[in-house]
Order: sequence, then structure tokens, then C-alpha cells
Amino acid sequence: MSCLFSKGQEEEETAPQEEAILKLPNGTEHRIKVLKPTCGQDAFLDIRDLHRATGYFSYDPGFTCTGSCLSAITFIDGPKGVCLYRGYSVPDLVDQAQALEVAYLLLVGEKPSVAQLAEFRKEIQKHMLVHEKVKAMFSNFTINAHPMAIMVAVIGALSCIFSELDPLDEEHRWLACKRLIAKVPVLACWAYKTSIGQPMMYPRADLSFAENFLYMMFATPMEEYQVNPVAAKAINAFMILHMDHEQNASTSTVRIAGSSQANPYACIAAGVASLWGPAHGGANEAVIKMLEEIGVPENVPNFVADVKAKKEGVRLMGFGHRVYKNYDPRAKVMKGLVAQVLQELGIEDPLLKVAQELEKVALADDYFVQRKLYPNVDYYSGIMLRALGIPTSMFTVMFAMSRTVGWVSQWNEMVSEGQMRIGRPRQLYVGPKERKWSESKGAGYVSGTVSTRRSSSFTKRVPDVPTR
Ligand SMILES: CC(C)(COP(=O)(O)OP(=O)(O)OC[C@H]1O[C@@H](n2cnc3c(N)ncnc32)[C@H](O)[C@@H]1OP(=O)(O)O)[C@@H](O)C(=O)NCCC(=O)NCCS
Repeated sequence: MSCLFSKGQEEEETAPQEEAILKLPNGTEHRIKVLKPTCGQDAFLDIRDLHRATGYFSYDPGFTCTGSCLSAITFIDGPKGVCLYRGYSVPDLVDQAQALEVAYLLLVGEKPSVAQLAEFRKEIQKHMLVHEKVKAMFSNFTINAHPMAIMVAVIGALSCIFSELDPLDEEHRWLACKRLIAKVPVLACWAYKTSIGQPMMYPRADLSFAENFLYMMFATPMEEYQVNPVAAKAINAFMILHMDHEQNASTSTVRIAGSSQANPYACIAAGVASLWGPAHGGANEAVIKMLEEIGVPENVPNFVADVKAKKEGVRLMGFGHRVYKNYDPRAKVMKGLVAQVLQELGIEDPLLKVAQELEKVALADDYFVQRKLYPNVDYYSGIMLRALGIPTSMFTVMFAMSRTVGWVSQWNEMVSEGQMRIGRPRQLYVGPKERKWSESKGAGYVSGTVSTRRSSSFTKRVPDVPTR
């Protein structure tokens, strides 16, 4: 199959139209071009020559106001709560498209024709078989290993099998992207089967992408497995909703890893590791734990009081987002899906009542209103996955499986469009000034004397910067 990657059109459309002037402490001025994206109201100061021209760096921990690349894949309007894949509204895609169609759209840039989709489907099916050597790795994991731990290892291990790869060759990249989209769901299901000690199931060519996932998760060689169409529809929607989300932590990790021209399978394993944490993809698992701890709707006010008091370790999981300062459009779709799936499957989940009460109380509270904290996609997704019989430890794996599409699309965009300058941020050094080893007495480490200074989103703000 020929390569179908599209070229972005952003270069001429982000041509500088305005300039900003930066007054420096020595009285000189530095002119900065203003770049505008093709959608939305954001504007970017192009500071690529800042250090060369002025000697200054910028300081922005967490990259809260730094654009790291040009991208034509996903657009988010945070204040308005809009998310588009290649210009198409994500809620519309959930309603009207199949997961593989959306994968093609993200990767290639355009909606596939009927013939292109059929060929893409065939190619993906062909690549779903996983090397038996990688399958053999699964027997070495302990039975209670977290499936995300297994995923980091086995996706990384694909780079042992596919080591002869030139990221700068378009055919090689296309092959790597297809293999990853095809194989990661298989590895995800095998990780689950390993964790429960059941035989691993091979994918079937007669099933759709979503149906194959359910089959490999829940079938056993002992009896025939009928895919529930309600479940297949829900998985299709889940996958589309999670496929891409511009430059989040895991996608940026994949891009930074790939910027050194590292093997793409290893880059995706790095993305999986980054996704795992509770501030990112691990939030769907953390939401369920939080709802279980709250237990009943009557306990919601006490929990909210603890959140507002910033009690150590207490946070309203599944709420808040770096970019959305409005209801996450994916969360809206997910909330509707949960109601539909639970009703169609005839399931009553007591956690849904706790989640609904918590959302109601939070959205009416000044703490959350002032900080513009709304439910994100992870708030309701866990309740839907529970209804489908998917265990909590698999939630983030499901996210990784879907996000693989975005990761490979973003990796390919970076490589194919020459945005391969190695990712290498600066630091603001706050350690000791130069000193002599021979003159030091050596204080040693005394427990409790080293400040841990946790400055993650989960605790305090970023520490103050010492001034010279
Ligand atoms: C997503 C998230 C990491 C974004 O972090 P961020 O952009 O760095 O936002 P900040 O931590 O700076 O939050 C701004 C303010 O809102 C508060 N806040 C943010 N999310 C909150 C939450 N879920 N519960 C309670 N307070 C929250 C912060 O404490 C901070 O308050 P302050 O100004 O009084 O210090 C953060 O909202 C979060 O931890 N959410 C819960 C985890 C989650 O659902 N992650 C999945 C994201 S899709």
C-alpha cells in the first residue's frame, strides 16, 4: 500500500501578522513575532530566537503557556469546550464514525473513501498477529502484575522484533503506525488475561476493531462467545473519544522520545508510562477508587470539604483540565453514553448516584466555579467500563490502546514535517555555587532534612523561584 500521510497546510496559515516588543532590563528592546493558529483566539509569541538575540531564556514549568510544535491533528478550544479531530467535531465522530475510520482520519488527515477504509481495515487485521516471542514474554509476569506495567514492557519489546527501522523513511513509518494500532489492543487484552490467569485469545479476522477487543478480553477457548452489540458500540465510542488530545503529557513524551530518532515502538512505550499516572490517564481508575471511598451520596459534602481544604492526597479526580475551562465535550458524550449503556444493559450502579451527586455539589460550589473546574472525560468513563465488565485495573490500558492512534499520528507528523529538533528544555539552576570537594566536610544525608518539595498539581503550587 502506498503511503497516505498528508502534509500540513499550517505554514502559510500561521504566517506572522503582528509583533510584540519585549523591554529588557538593560533598556534594549526585542521584537517578537506573533503567530496565530488556524482556529481559535490563542496567539503565540515566537521566542525561538530569544536566547540568541537577548541572552534570556523563558521559565515555564509544566509548559503552561508554551507551544512545543506545529500540529494539524487535534484542535481544542478550552474556554468554549470544543474538540476537533482534523476539523471534525469529536462528538459528531462518536455518533457517526467507526473507530478505524477515525484512526485513518487522524493518521492520514482525511476521511477515507469506502475503498481506502476497506484496505486499511485489511492491513490492520493483517498486523494484529503478534510475534510469538512477544507472546512468550507474558508468561514471565506475576499473576497480579498491573496491566499497565505489562504494557510498558511488551510494547517496548516490540522494538526488539522491529529494530530495523528508519524513522525518516515514509514506508517504514506507515508500517510502524499500522503495526502499533493493530497490535496494542491485542497486547492490552493479553495483559488482562495474564493478570487473571486465563488463556490468551488470538484476534479474529471476521470481527470489527471494537468487537475484537471484547472477544479477546472475554472469550475463552471453552465456549462460543457472542459479542454484545451494546458493548461493541460503547467500546467504539470510548476509543474515538480517547484517540487524541493534542500536546498532553503522554503525547509530548512520545514526541520528545521520538525527537532523538528513537525506535517508535520504544517511544510509544514511553507514552504509556507517562499516561499511567493519576493526573493523566490513570485518573479513570482513581475516579472509581474515589467514588468507592465516598460510598454513598450522603458523604459527598464531607468529601468536597476535604477537597476544598486541600487535605493531603484528597482531590476531586476526573475534574479539572489544563486546557478546558468549560465542560469537556468528551465528558458530555461520556455522560450520555453511561446513561444509555446502563439502561440498555439493565444495570444499576450505585457509584453513578455518588458521581451525579458529587458533580452537582461541585458545580454549584464557588471553589470549583472560580477555578473553572468541570468534569473531564475520565469522570464518567469508569462507570461505563464497569458496566461492560471491564476491571478497574484495565481502565488506563483501554485509554492507552485508544491513544496509541494519536501517539503514532503525532509522532509521524513530527518526523514527516521536519519538526525533529531534539526536545531539550533548559532549567533554572537553584543548587550550590561551585565549591571544592577537598574542602568539604560532608554532612551526609539525615532523614527528614531533605525537602521533598512536591510541586505537582496534587499539592502546592510550584515553589517560589529564588531571585539573585
Ligand atoms: C488535570 C489537572 C492535573 C490539571 O492541572 P493544572 O492545569 O496544573 O491545574 P492546577 O493544579 O494549577 O489547578 C488550578 C487550581 O485548581 C485546583 N484544582 C485543579 N484540579 C482540581 C481538582 N480535580 N480537585 C480540586 N482542585 C483542583 C488546584 O488546586 C488549583 O487551585 P489553587 O489555585 O488554589 O492552587 C488537575 O485539574 C487534576 O489534578 N485533576 C484531577 C486529575 C484528573 O482528573 N486528571 C485527568 C485529566 S484529563
